[in-house]
Amino acid sequence: MLHYLSIKGKQKLKGSVCISGAKNAALPLLAATLLSKNEITLSNIPEVVDVKTLLKLLENLGAKTNLEKNIVTINTVPVKSACANYDIVRKMRASILTLGPLLARFGHCEVSMPGGCAIGQRPIDLHLKALEQMGATIELKQGYVVAKAPDGLKGTTIIFDKVTVTGSENILMAAALAHGVTKLVNVAKEPEVVQLCEFLKEAGVSIDGIGTSNLTIVGSYGELLDLKDIKVIPDRIEAGTYLCAGAITNSKITIVNVIPKHIESITLKLKQMGFNFNINENSITLLPALEIKPSDIETSEYPGFPTDVQAQFMALCTQANGTSIIDEKLFENRFMHVSEMTRMGANIKLKGHSATVEGNMDLIGADVMATDLRASSALVLAALVAKGTTRIHRIYHLDRGYENLEGKFSALGANIERLEE
Ligand code: UD1
Repeated sequence: MLHYLSIKGKQKLKGSVCISGAKNAALPLLAATLLSKNEITLSNIPEVVDVKTLLKLLENLGAKTNLEKNIVTINTVPVKSACANYDIVRKMRASILTLGPLLARFGHCEVSMPGGCAIGQRPIDLHLKALEQMGATIELKQGYVVAKAPDGLKGTTIIFDKVTVTGSENILMAAALAHGVTKLVNVAKEPEVVQLCEFLKEAGVSIDGIGTSNLTIVGSYGELLDLKDIKVIPDRIEAGTYLCAGAITNSKITIVNVIPKHIESITLKLKQMGFNFNINENSITLLPALEIKPSDIETSEYPGFPTDVQAQFMALCTQANGTSIIDEKLFENRFMHVSEMTRMGANIKLKGHSATVEGNMDLIGADVMATDLRASSALVLAALVAKGTTRIHRIYHLDRGYENLEGKFSALGANIERLEE
């Protein structure tokens, strides 16, 4: 059944919203359970479609899983198959995270080339190159990555040409079971990568340099790991999205269950734009601005400004008192929300990877189409300040990564409904 969101704009928000566990942390942790020799429990799991897709993939491989009330128990001991098939993988790019663990555990695997958000070419060459450096032979056959390392993966030094989040995670998991020591250089430092390191470390894997761009991992020579139960970190992207919702409506709202340090690049940017904050250990209250000032944004790897909050900031910039420039440095095609925002009355000029966003725009409700996960949430934000009703179609994109979005926004006082097409 297809659904759309109907949002009546021009309503102030108020109150507090509880942030879910991070999708992008849950996915690699779930993939890492393929390395486990026992059943484990992961808590604070966001119940979003991407997580359910990965659980389905793991079950398809032979794992036993149970997801209830944001807690998943998972037993990958019965897994016999090392073939991640197209029907599931095409739904989500992060399925590629099973490549490293499957190859490390079985010495061979077949993983379909991924689908997922169409935000640029999103190659996986760096994942493959690193596995080859660890001794794997890799062929691409009929849309599948066919990887073999019958004598196990070998520790070596790998320098990533570019910082890649899932690439770092994949190779980290492979290295945990490899023969000998792997040195990874130019690794992603995202909190989600850090949590994966901690998960492996708790299981007894020696990892040096956690949180830096250089990691040294001592592999287990193929022995499965004694992974321990873990609680997923809060979703910094969801947190950033709700902060932008508070900001665009210039409302006072509190986000609860966050790690303020993880979203410092966002709070600092909002401060420059005129907002203030009360920051506690695990909650942040956004205070309205006297004037929303324009701001320039350049996306980058952590701890820089996240590309996953770029679209939401663009929506906010349409309400600033002046012109903002947004530079998207990570993905070449991550401006698909621009044409939809323009249909709502925004004035945004694109040139290469840069967008010039005029402020002081009176947005007007319209029928718009969600194009990717974060673009969709940016349209929700635009709708909150638009005059009249906005209907956002194709919200299956939103459901991939936002837990109970309309419930959370309703609780904040937004006029939002999920309806059948
Ligand atoms: C992850 C996040 C995604 C976020 C992105 C950047 C997950 C599940 N997804 O995606 O939400 O937007 O990080 O923060 O965690 N690249 C290559 N070759 C490769 C791999 C990547 O050229 O083999 C390039 C990409 O095209 C892109 C850049 O490296 O330009 C960063 O991509 P990457 O960090 O790999 O993104 P994902 O891990 O897919």
